Amino acid sequence: MKIVINTTFSAKYSADLVVFCIDQKKKNTPNIPQEVSQDVLSDACSLGDFKGDEKDSLVVYGGSEKSSQYKRVAYVGVGRIPKNIKSHILEEKMRGAGGVIASLAKKYRAAKICLYLPSSLTKQQTHVGVYGLTQGAILGDYTFQKYKTTKEKPEEHKGISEIKFICTTNVASLRKESSLARSSAIAACHARDMANEPGNNWTADSFADFARDLAQKHHLKCSVFAEKELKKMGMGGILAVNQGSERPAKLVVLEHHFDTKAKTVVLVGKGLTFDSGGISLKPAAGMEDMKYDMCGGAAVLGAMSSVAVEKPQCNVVAIVPATDNMTGGAALKPGDIIYHYNKTSSEIINTDAEGRLILADALAYGVENYSPDYIIDVATLTGAVIIGLGHHHSGLFTNNDALAGRLKAAGEKSGEPVWRLPLGEEYKKQLKSKVADVKNTGGRPAGAISAAEYLHGFVGSTPWAHLDIAGTAWNFTEKSYIPEGGPSGMAVRTLLEFIRQIEN
Ligand code: BES
Ligand code: MN
Ligand code: ZN
Repeated sequence: MKIVINTTFSAKYSADLVVFCIDQKKKNTPNIPQEVSQDVLSDACSLGDFKGDEKDSLVVYGGSEKSSQYKRVAYVGVGRIPKNIKSHILEEKMRGAGGVIASLAKKYRAAKICLYLPSSLTKQQTHVGVYGLTQGAILGDYTFQKYKTTKEKPEEHKGISEIKFICTTNVASLRKESSLARSSAIAACHARDMANEPGNNWTADSFADFARDLAQKHHLKCSVFAEKELKKMGMGGILAVNQGSERPAKLVVLEHHFDTKAKTVVLVGKGLTFDSGGISLKPAAGMEDMKYDMCGGAAVLGAMSSVAVEKPQCNVVAIVPATDNMTGGAALKPGDIIYHYNKTSSEIINTDAEGRLILADALAYGVENYSPDYIIDVATLTGAVIIGLGHHHSGLFTNNDALAGRLKAAGEKSGEPVWRLPLGEEYKKQLKSKVADVKNTGGRPAGAISAAEYLHGFVGSTPWAHLDIAGTAWNFTEKSYIPEGGPSGMAVRTLLEFIRQIEN
């Protein structure tokens, strides 16, 4: 999708759809911009058909003089925009409008779109508006049709090819804004692509291929550790989870090196390509969703796809421990004791608590080998976090208040809200084992927290944060720019925003 910022509309530009974002003067009263037919909108408003509320839209054709230069006109509501509206709230409103525009584009098979921002935005708000609309349109335009055969032909619409914003001033800085928005939206779409791939087609090797490919194209460093090396390194968690599988595990490491003196961020993502539960088998109903258990890994490599292009002024290392969790004859069993990378011994109580086993190795590896300023892991780790926070917030766990603040702000700006839950010795106690240093489950109470405490044991005093995205990686809160039921790309945009805010 091409994004263009222009100062004027030319009738020669044959847009399939011209969109006016309409805010409200006050409740139920759309703010009608000069460029559009006053009668059409005020008639629609008095009939109650279009009030300019968020998610409202109205499509009209030629007719009146003023709009006759356009083939099709869409009015898209954004609701009230008070002068002092918080920037992240405005951004999310506009992202929502972008999603609505993408679905109108699909409905009307519109490829080229011309777009006017709400007429009452201030200069600063215009920047936020362009950012949100760009991102919402790209995220909302996303589809995954790869496995539809000709028998069930995908729709003719090939998506939006171009959006032309009409903005009167600040063209250069608005271009910058929209290109940042575009960069992180595309990264999120990469993560969605990985997540949409079924478990028989997206394996540990697929993560390795994706990372190698990025490294080659953008001069990053990529290392892929296979079974032999994992054994030598003592990656007992990853190997244990992989024991029941026919497909080899991989530990994928991808590095953007900026400067030895610069800050270093390590990102760790759970790359569990299918979670059957292992010997502690999951119930059949809904098990197909466990192909999404790799969304954390997808998020960190998705983010790296933009890091590779943006080349931020800090070092970024992505680590993805990747395997499926299966039930083969050699599978890990309850009662088994394993050794992690940092030599901690762990008693397996439930083989379905596998995410923490592979993450523990990766976290300890990241801390030891990169001495990072921050280490952040992203994982579909627990069903318990869904009970606690539903599909509306990701769980945030951290040993560092400043990091909590940064991630909260980055999540807020991205429309990917996080909610901090506590850690604590009292939860850690739940993981006490009679026979090993720890056990891998802490019972039903506070399941998301005891899982986080398991990970906490592998980061030492490094500022660390854990994002439990089990409730938000798919079926995330209804949003116009997220495909219903499908993967959201959760955390990609938050991570990129976090990285962009790092100063050395
Ligand atoms: N991948 C699951 C967590 C999950 C559940 C993600 C539902 C998304 C939706 C994880 O590996 C798991 O099975 N966790 C167990 C841990 C338990 C055995 C301590 C859980 O949450 O039930
Ligand atoms: Mn599991
Ligand atoms: Zn899992």
